[in-house]
Amino acid sequence: MARSVYVNWVLTSGRAELLDGFRRTPDPARAPLQGKQKHGSEDPPLQRQPIPYNDAASRMFAKRTNWNLAANRLSEALAVYRTAGKPLLDLTVSNPTECGFEYDRSAILNALSNAAALSYEPNPKGLESARRAVAGYYAERKDEVSIEDIFLTTSTSEAYSYVFRTLCDPGDELLIPSPSYPLFDFLADIQDVKLARYPLLYDHGWQIDFHALEQAITPRTRGVIVVHPNNPTGHFAKQAEIARLNSICSAREMAIIADEVFLDFALDGSRAASFAANRGAPTFTLSGLSKISGLPQMKAAWLIAGGPQQWKSEAVARLEVIADTYLSVNAPVQLAMPEFLAQRHAFHKQVISRIRRNLAELDRQLAEQKACARLTVEGGWCVVLRVPATGSDEDLAIELLTTQGVSVHPGHFFELAADGYLVVSLITPERIFAEGTSRLLSSM
Ligand SMILES: Cc1ncc(COP(=O)(O)O)c(C=O)c1O
Repeated sequence: MARSVYVNWVLTSGRAELLDGFRRTPDPARAPLQGKQKHGSEDPPLQRQPIPYNDAASRMFAKRTNWNLAANRLSEALAVYRTAGKPLLDLTVSNPTECGFEYDRSAILNALSNAAALSYEPNPKGLESARRAVAGYYAERKDEVSIEDIFLTTSTSEAYSYVFRTLCDPGDELLIPSPSYPLFDFLADIQDVKLARYPLLYDHGWQIDFHALEQAITPRTRGVIVVHPNNPTGHFAKQAEIARLNSICSAREMAIIADEVFLDFALDGSRAASFAANRGAPTFTLSGLSKISGLPQMKAAWLIAGGPQQWKSEAVARLEVIADTYLSVNAPVQLAMPEFLAQRHAFHKQVISRIRRNLAELDRQLAEQKACARLTVEGGWCVVLRVPATGSDEDLAIELLTTQGVSVHPGHFFELAADGYLVVSLITPERIFAEGTSRLLSSM
């Protein structure tokens, strides 16, 4: 299976256990590379040490594609478990279309049959009607975004690739939060960008470790990625953190790249500030329909350039060439965007109420035992559990699967720094969540 297909399938289908196959611990990708690449090239080293399956094949392809695609023990165990046809309590689901939410089927399907889709109106930024709908989403949040600064893309991942291509030459660096979700390594590999991590620290809540962030900056650092709120920690960047990011990035001519796919899912019902109207530093804001409206299959997302006017005009002009080269978003989906965005209200209501009920059930169960706890969660679709670190979290996940029929993400999948963490999805259907967490906690 092609790797990109594999990764997308893995992430959007909620079968992240398969992607986990790429991310065994100890992960060679986390160790800084020294010296030359395998075949004696003088090129600057790639960030990820290639692990060739077969030397002949690895000579024929670009080094950036020398990924280790072998399954790990957890994904093998899952495959065996599924093949045996045993019932699975899957606490890793992330595909909203498979979680029992109600969608307005006719509104969604009717929106896709707009006769205007019979003609082709190429526009690198995307159709104006769709960009107006995106600007309307921000206007409702009281953020003013010009439609001239919006670019439609097929996914947030594609938006990342446009940003990486706009900002980085091969070997340039971007900072990413740790923990965070696992696609960044692949996105960076494909664009020949190097990643450095800045830690998020947990102390009754998550915060950015600014000392470590500043230490990680080198002359080749082009930007800082902020996932707002982060997946899986659920941490929103706070006003003071945003101000500090602005001053660090503007002083060093770096950009903020803000991933806001979970922005609407604040648990306390508050409206978190978006980076879309940020003026304090060069900023790219990314979001899309896969989470906001629960429509990952529609492949509709966007990228907004923001920040100081002169920088923004330059960024928009460069992005326009990249976007014009692909013109990747199809007409029916662009024409349907106003309706798809309108669908977010009904979707949001269902998701937030499920997340709150699942968290309340989890807290009720946690109160009845002492071995496990959960970390504070402000928003997003996941919760991090702290469990006794009696072995690796991968071993624990395998044991939960084979003895309890419960599937969870080991913390290392999201780069949690130590063993003793599991991540579970809060959008899991409630009966499965209650039974799965009950079996998990009773086995500790
Ligand atoms: C933080 C974050 N950003 C982006 C994405 C991918 O979004 P898209 O489907 O628009 O590529 C995900 C997917 O889970 C995610 O967790």
